Amino acid sequence: MSSVKEINFAIVGCGRISNNHFDAIKSCSGQAKLIAVCDIDPNALDLAVQKTGAIGYSSLSELLNNKDIEVISLCTPSGMHSAQTIEIAKKNKHIITEKPMATNWIDGLKMINACNEAKVKLFVVKQNRKNDTLKLLKQAIQEERFGKIYNVAINVFWTRPQAYYDSAKWRGTWAFDGGALMNQASHYVDLLAWLIGEVDQVFAFCSTLARKIEVEDSASVSLKWKNGALGTLNVSMLTYPNNLEGSITIIGEKGTVKIGGVAVNEIQVWKFKDLKEYDQDIFNANYSTQSVYGHGHPLYYKNVIDVLHEKCLADTDGAEGLKSLELICAMYQSAKEVKPISLPFSRSIS
Ligand SMILES: NC(=O)c1ccc[n+]([C@@H]2O[C@H](COP(=O)([O-])OP(=O)(O)OC[C@H]3O[C@@H](n4cnc5c(N)ncnc54)[C@H](O)[C@@H]3O)[C@@H](O)[C@H]2O)c1
Repeated sequence: MSSVKEINFAIVGCGRISNNHFDAIKSCSGQAKLIAVCDIDPNALDLAVQKTGAIGYSSLSELLNNKDIEVISLCTPSGMHSAQTIEIAKKNKHIITEKPMATNWIDGLKMINACNEAKVKLFVVKQNRKNDTLKLLKQAIQEERFGKIYNVAINVFWTRPQAYYDSAKWRGTWAFDGGALMNQASHYVDLLAWLIGEVDQVFAFCSTLARKIEVEDSASVSLKWKNGALGTLNVSMLTYPNNLEGSITIIGEKGTVKIGGVAVNEIQVWKFKDLKEYDQDIFNANYSTQSVYGHGHPLYYKNVIDVLHEKCLADTDGAEGLKSLELICAMYQSAKEVKPISLPFSRSIS
């Protein structure tokens, strides 16, 4: 019989992505319990209370008075994550924040500092790392099956109509959302360092070609890694008529792999000079999906719970989350100054 204590969770922000969090906590039943939800929109709050049976709060400060809550998941607009994390850390509760952890690098750093000071954990959701397709690719890279990696191409060709940006005030703003690189492509930016290694330089072009928003709907980035690899990240939210592709292609000395589909859900090319037994089964990792969010949130929560029980290290803690934020901020600086930017980005901040 298990004697593991159930961890009490709360969710702040009950919009689109909160459903993945509700389901993920439910899937960890026995180890995790959702005891509170919070939203400033009374309709969203009512729906969340009805769906989950948790206690409803109309503000974070009110929710923070509930002493039973141990972990708070932030599903609020991205530009709110930093101030909310700092407020929560002061109350000594752990934090899971949706991606991106913040909309600028300094806010991301402040979150890490506040959590370190309060000795609470900060987790940044990167559920795509849990896709079977990407786990196999990570394994092949760790086994050095590519030899030297020569070239990497990542494409995120999705559709976000004007109605999507108009659906909430925070969407398409610099302060609360960020553009196609910061919001939609952030899981793909995460792959740049997680899979290939430390990035040396980025040179980005960003444009707002069609939507009426402050931020970019299109971006094209050239990259050079410290290990010598070259690559591109191409992002469009203007693909006609629907989401077309979320893919990564890696070309190496002894291997070529392409994982595509609409959200890196299909291994399309898997060729290596040296074969492994598991190569026979790799296409079983493919899955069909309507959602570009994938199915990784339950596995992400499982890791958080195991970390809190001191069974393992975090898959993506604050420092790991900051890596992709740093890359995105370097891309934005490059686009603004029309020149390549070297990493680490901290060097270029005055
Ligand atoms: N991991 C992923 O794949 C993924 C997918 C979608 C969204 N996200 C991220 O999740 C976050 C939320 O996105 P969404 O699409 O669910 O947005 P949304 O607009 O659908 O939901 C946000 C909710 O937060 C509420 N809110 C706003 N201010 C609040 C406050 N001060 N206190 C409490 N609630 C407040 C809003 O009323 C709304 O219900 C964003 O950071 C986004 O980037 C991540």
